[in-house]
Amino acid sequence: MRILVINGPNLNMLGIREPDIYGKRTFHDLEESILAWAEEIGLDAELYQSNHEGDIVDRIQGALGRFDGILINPAAYTHTSVAILDALKAVGLPVCEVHLSDISGREEFRRFSYVSLYAGKTIAGKGFEGYREGLAWLRDRIGAGAP
Ligand code: DQA
Repeated sequence: MRILVINGPNLNMLGIREPDIYGKRTFHDLEESILAWAEEIGLDAELYQSNHEGDIVDRIQGALGRFDGILINPAAYTHTSVAILDALKAVGLPVCEVHLSDISGREEFRRFSYVSLYAGKTIAGKGFEGYREGLAWLRDRIGAGAP
């Protein structure tokens, strides 16, 4: 099973960026954890990070026929991007949305997620661990043959 893991804008600044909210571990630490967790449960994960909305849309479109599912932290685009939502709907793969912080308990503008309108599951507020949970959810969902 092949999973595309997408991290959106400013997540490459983990470790430096607002450590009180996002923690002190770096983006490199996160990527290493994701690869190790994927391997543990028999998933082949490809990692992608971008600060650019259109590049993320291109990457989602390119997942068609190449991946079995998508794990995505759209970061700030969560709350603004109809284009990312539409791209996810267009490819029709199982999607799990993940956020490091609890977006429901922060500023009002973070409470709405466009991606949640399509994602089969949303995990928020569990830090790095949320990615592990998201990978496991995708493995079970794809294994069960669900779209
Ligand atoms: C985030 C939450 C978003 O509101 C924010 O813009 C991010 C990161 C998270 O992982 O908690 O950049 O997606």
